[in-house]
Amino acid sequence: METSCYTERMRSDLIDKRLKEINAIIPFSKILDRNANNMNNIANYYRLNRLAYRLINSREGFVHMGISRDGVFKDTDFLEHANLISRFMNNVNTLDVLELAAGKAATTKYLAKKYPTISFTGLDLPNGQLNISSSKNTNLRLVEGDYHDLTQFDNNSFDVVYIIEALCHAINKKQVIKETNRILKPGGVFVIFDGYASKERGSMSAIETLVSDLTYSSMMVTKDDHSYAELRSNLISSGFNIIEEENLSKYVLPTMERFEKKAIKYFQKPLYAKVLNTILPIEVTGNAVAAYLMPLSIKAGLHQYWVTVSKKE
Ligand SMILES: C[S@@+](CC[C@H](N)C(=O)[O-])C[C@H]1O[C@@H](n2cnc3c(N)ncnc32)[C@H](O)[C@@H]1O
Repeated sequence: METSCYTERMRSDLIDKRLKEINAIIPFSKILDRNANNMNNIANYYRLNRLAYRLINSREGFVHMGISRDGVFKDTDFLEHANLISRFMNNVNTLDVLELAAGKAATTKYLAKKYPTISFTGLDLPNGQLNISSSKNTNLRLVEGDYHDLTQFDNNSFDVVYIIEALCHAINKKQVIKETNRILKPGGVFVIFDGYASKERGSMSAIETLVSDLTYSSMMVTKDDHSYAELRSNLISSGFNIIEEENLSKYVLPTMERFEKKAIKYFQKPLYAKVLNTILPIEVTGNAVAAYLMPLSIKAGLHQYWVTVSKKE
């Protein structure tokens, strides 16, 4: 039912109009031919977007969506992730917490301040957006690394591991999940916030595939399968038990609609787009593609945003 309704909506005039406008300003090939299967390219994308994300999304350095349960965007909505993660740290036995792909580490900095007796570690790629000397708290350590290889951490060493809007970049998601399982203590909790496709790429129509590929590639995410079903099966086969999950798609729409307003201006005022294209690299202007398409693909049910909490058996 959801699928056929979605397919009808993806054939809508608005999607067609937006795709034409995008192609006129940024030819599809400029986005689709990117190689997002390369960690240097991903780090470079985030380095080039450091300032843009701060100006357009969050001055505090959150590089994720706000979760606006009342349907209206507020800056405090960026803290909803931390608030949910806190629920799994509110016990005296929590000693060590790790954020994978911490970005500018805004969430981990916030939590480290709030929980001074817990040790926090934040990891992200070298030469990207993480500044490892930016930690002001003695209970916070920022380190560089690739989340596919967590050998710098011992087996059974963390109580809680979390990752926000970043597992989608993995070249091998199952490997990241298996590594996380290894470093978590038995009974430890893994919290994942991320965006997904509601179906496998192989079963999408041509227009769904185009919208999905443009959206992911413009944010330097691979065009691979990003189905939520695949995540669940990877977690279960790696020894996790899913204890909580929620589809948060409608609550991230207010953040997306902030970006959409900017994208409307960019794609509907070609002269303005031309000026921006001459002063900004494609890694920055290309974000307008996701900003233009994603509110529609979320509303149509093609893309989703979930929080998934699992426990190491
Ligand atoms: C959308 S940002 C999210 C940042 C942060 N989690 C936040 O919520 O503000 C995605 C992050 O994933 C990181 N990332 C992507 N691939 C990675 C990898 N293989 N290892 C570690 N971090 C990675 C990027 O460098 C980027 O900082």
